[in-house]
Amino acid sequence: MNFVILFSPGNINPILLDEKEISHLITNLVGNGLDAVQHGQEVVIKTYRNAVKVILEISDEGLGIDPAIIEKIGTPFLTTKETRIGLGLAVCYSIAYRHNAQIEFCTSSDGTTFFIKFPLPPSYKPEKPRD
Ligand SMILES: Nc1ncnc2c1ncn2[C@@H]1O[C@H](COP(=O)(O)OP(=O)(O)OP(=O)(O)O)[C@@H](O)[C@H]1O
Ligand SMILES: [Mg+2]
Repeated sequence: MNFVILFSPGNINPILLDEKEISHLITNLVGNGLDAVQHGQEVVIKTYRNAVKVILEISDEGLGIDPAIIEKIGTPFLTTKETRIGLGLAVCYSIAYRHNAQIEFCTSSDGTTFFIKFPLPPSYKPEKPRD
């Protein structure tokens, strides 16, 4: 099967991360995206920031999360895949927790997007608004 993985890095503040853990988180989320897409569809990894957070976004063009399990996303051993154990997202949630980050997602029949929202570093001082 052919698929496309795109990386779109934004202009973000440096933040302190555990490289191994964040690699693991990205691998799990991109893996889920790849499991969800059909031939030729995309999985996109983006980084950007808003006024208060640095955001890692991973989206796919798959058919969305099964509505029957949406409420339980992040629970260990939750899977709809025959040969998997259903630990990927539970691990992502614990990695996010250790980084003081929140995970949010939106999903529909057009695809799924996960947002991992990291706090800005304490040293960050917002720019003063211009008059
Ligand atoms: N991007 C996605 N699109 C559609 N469904 C998803 C997506 N991400 C997660 N899911 C659903 O959530 C379930 C749990 O995901 P999770 O990553 O925890 O486990 P898994 O992928 O089934 O197994 P594992 O990650 O342990 O190999 C999946 O089985 C799938 O049904
Ligand atoms: Mg998984």
